[in-house]
Amino acid sequence: MPATLTLGAQWGDEGKGKIVDRLARGADLVVRFQGGANAGHTLVVDGTSTVLHLVPSGVLTPGCCNVIGPGCVVDPLALLEEMEMLRCRGIEVSPRNLVLSGGSHLVLPFHHKLDRAEGGAIGTTGRGIGPCYADRARRLGVRAGTIPAGEFPEALQRLAAHYDLHHGGVMGERALGRGERESLRLAAARLAPHIADTTPLLADAIARDAKVLYEGAQGTLLDLDHGTYPFVTSSSTTIGGALTGGGVYVEFRRRIGVVKAYTTRVGNGPFPTEEAGEVGDLLRRSGGEFGATTGRPRRCGWLDLPLLEHAIRVNGFTEIALTKLDVLTGIDPIPVAIEADALGHRRYRELEGWQEPIRGCDDMASLPAACKAYVSFIEERLGVPATLVSTGPGRDEIIERCPAW
Ligand code: IMP
Repeated sequence: MPATLTLGAQWGDEGKGKIVDRLARGADLVVRFQGGANAGHTLVVDGTSTVLHLVPSGVLTPGCCNVIGPGCVVDPLALLEEMEMLRCRGIEVSPRNLVLSGGSHLVLPFHHKLDRAEGGAIGTTGRGIGPCYADRARRLGVRAGTIPAGEFPEALQRLAAHYDLHHGGVMGERALGRGERESLRLAAARLAPHIADTTPLLADAIARDAKVLYEGAQGTLLDLDHGTYPFVTSSSTTIGGALTGGGVYVEFRRRIGVVKAYTTRVGNGPFPTEEAGEVGDLLRRSGGEFGATTGRPRRCGWLDLPLLEHAIRVNGFTEIALTKLDVLTGIDPIPVAIEADALGHRRYRELEGWQEPIRGCDDMASLPAACKAYVSFIEERLGVPATLVSTGPGRDEIIERCPAW
């Protein structure tokens, strides 16, 4: 069976976790293929909220295998902490349902230090993502596969020595202290049973017609190549990244762009439809727009169709999942950017708003007419259907317009 791909269509924080959690019901595998603990995917089940950073969002679905692919960068200490948090909640996390690719790269304590020192201009999450991917590109990185191969201490030593010799350490100190080495050694031993070559695992699953769901992190506009460079993350967040970072050829028959009904961004960089004043505050308050990873207030603004057209061109979305539509309740009119001029300035269309609460609506027919018209306007302009429409944070607050599998 061909796989289903979910990607953020904007600057991340579109609500992908919820959409993936929904689609994971009935999936055999969920695959993360890029990024690391910079992601924050919030899943709300029975009123309890779970924030995942590294573990794929299929973990709440019994029987689903979660794969962290070779394109990811993994902080071993953060991963263990997240696994422990899940276990404390009674959620299974075992080598059966969580597999880490030996090809993924390890985020080490000095990557965090470097990121915090250098990432200010971009407004990074400080999770060591950029420095770790940089070491990967410089062919100095430490891969997870060194752990089961018994080569981890040497690989770690090689990289730390490189920093000490060629850069005089990290921030004026030796790259790795003895305590850090010891906690990494212990973490490595605990992660070892989860590390495998995920390429045959995935290829076999696809060959036997398993239902495979790919979970993107961040969003199209944060892609290293196709985003708002240099204000981007350091991985390929788009469809090409799913193929290289997943490690197998697979046909993505459903390519779902997750689109928030308005736009947000954390960190620095251009944001043409941003509302910096009171309107932005209103969206931030109503939408709870504070970073799941860093707690930073997100910048807020209106839906930007030219940006979404770019995301569709890059990823070939067959459909969109429209999220947080309920946040727009009570705003009237609702501006939507429909065109960009040569300088990037936006031209807006004002759409009619609605006052009726929409949480709990489980089909399109029960939405207020203006709300339905908002969804139809987006679909017509983008030329793709909104097959999932989320009307609230809960797992079941969603309109599913076609079967998941
Ligand atoms: P980094 O990924 O930590 O290097 O940060 C680079 C840029 O991507 C910064 O603007 C971050 O705020 C942004 N970013 C990284 N991860 C996420 C995410 O999961 N959601 C939204 N923005 C993110």
